[in-house]
Amino acid sequence: MALGLQLRRQVLAGLLLCLCIGRWAEAGKVLVAPMEGSHWLSMRQAVRELHARGHQAVVLSPEINIHIKAEDFFTTKSYAIPYTQDQFDSIMKGRPDEVFERVHFLTRFWETMATLKNVSLFFARSCEALLYNKDLIRDLNASSFDVVLTDPVYPCGAVLAKYLSIPAVFFLRFLPCDLDAEGTACPNPFSYVPRLLTMNPDHMTFFQRVKNMLYPLGLKYICLVSLTPYERMASELLQREVSLGEILASGSVWLFRGDFVMDYPRPIMPNMVFIGGINCANRKPLSQVRLSSFMFS
Ligand SMILES: *[C@@H]1O[C@H](CO)[C@@H](O)[C@H](O)[C@H]1NC(C)=O
Ligand SMILES: *[C@@H]1O[C@H](CO)[C@@H](O)[C@H](O)[C@H]1NC(C)=O
Repeated sequence: MALGLQLRRQVLAGLLLCLCIGRWAEAGKVLVAPMEGSHWLSMRQAVRELHARGHQAVVLSPEINIHIKAEDFFTTKSYAIPYTQDQFDSIMKGRPDEVFERVHFLTRFWETMATLKNVSLFFARSCEALLYNKDLIRDLNASSFDVVLTDPVYPCGAVLAKYLSIPAVFFLRFLPCDLDAEGTACPNPFSYVPRLLTMNPDHMTFFQRVKNMLYPLGLKYICLVSLTPYERMASELLQREVSLGEILASGSVWLFRGDFVMDYPRPIMPNMVFIGGINCANRKPLSQVRLSSFMFS
């Protein structure tokens, strides 16, 4: 079975390669399920490149969103969502002055959690509006897409790919709570791989290793709050118990917008590809004035 899975992965990786290889390959149909906000800005570059190589991309976008605007290198399919622009703005913008208020650490923590809960609820409702939109799903199902390109930090696209039985390619910076390691079944030992926000190096002292084990516990709560709705939706739609691990394990290829120039080395699996360089596509030299004022300030 493991061999079968591995073979399937290899076939899918081959398929993706064919998709990307350019004009010689037959054009593919890509369904893009992006994450809101700045996440989309990197993915837009990839979609532009897919279009330049003759592929056809359809981008799903909620009617109210931040950055996903129509462009000539993809088709947009927008869907209705159960909230207004005002509600969306008040949740997304929050209260910027909050950052400067002097409050107790615990108060700040609970406030942040409350905001996060609200934002997660919005995303979950947006996903529900997509997955339970019968006409849209029928239409997408009939369009025979070759692949779903999605950012799994918002696992809606991953659930959609599973629901439509289309291979998924994940495009991401990272996932919290080591879910990327879980989804790729990648070794991720606490003793060697520094965890998110710990500021630990990859050569750790005993106490740094203890910190490395304790930090992720706090984040677990965030993941529980923000990601369980997707398990529920997947279980309802597929009419069986589906875990988040299973949803993420369905990613055929994981394209990480990172690079070991920036991150500590860690074990990787054959379907994890590092493409951090694409964030430098629009590089410009830093202006001398800004650079020196930054360095001396
Ligand atoms: C969360 O949403 C509720 C209702 O939509 C609102 O009353 C509350 O102020 C929000 N809390 C935060 C922290 O944004
Ligand atoms: C997609 O279409 C196939 C073939 O008609 C059907 O068997 C399947 O249930 C459909 N999937 C969804 C999610 O509607």
